[in-house]
Amino acid sequence: MTLRLDRLRLFLHDLATLVDEQPGEPQLLARGAALLGELVRQDDWLPEECAQPRPERYSQYLLHADARQRFSVVSFVWGPGQATPVHDHRTWGLIGMLRGAELAQGFARAPDGRLWPEGAPMRLEPGQVEAVSPQVGDIHQVSNAYADRTSISIHVYGGNIGAIRRATYTEAGREQTFISGYTNRHLPNLWDLSQETATP
Ligand code: FE2
Repeated sequence: MTLRLDRLRLFLHDLATLVDEQPGEPQLLARGAALLGELVRQDDWLPEECAQPRPERYSQYLLHADARQRFSVVSFVWGPGQATPVHDHRTWGLIGMLRGAELAQGFARAPDGRLWPEGAPMRLEPGQVEAVSPQVGDIHQVSNAYADRTSISIHVYGGNIGAIRRATYTEAGREQTFISGYTNRHLPNLWDLSQETATP
């Protein structure tokens, strides 16, 4: 099967164009969600090395970072049963489900400072997209919906997410600063077009 990296390139092109326009956040999230939804509608473009689960914890492979760090695109790979801690992002984010399924539980802060689950967890199936941001709800916990298989979602953030100082939260709502970094040391090469035949 030919890897359809052209789909990712087109997405990055359209996303950069959207960010160039500097729309307000609601527009950015709505139009970005439509672009990401189009990307994750098909599962034939993610390089194999960015789809590998690890037994010890979930993986976050950087696929692309904007040269001005205005956005980044990351594949999150959940091994069976893996989950994040409760955490925030401090920038806008879009999560598009590519393979398997995940559960996202939002949290709200109670007057006593504790964090409480806000509503039921949202289940994302392939092709579906969810948004996070300090405006629409920024604290959540994400887990693989499956105990026996890998799930993969594609995340887009309004910055170089692996370098942003943000927080995980204890049950009492106490912040613990972290900078996530990335699992991969090398980026996939999206830009060698020499082996590609014309695509429709
Ligand atoms: Fe998150």
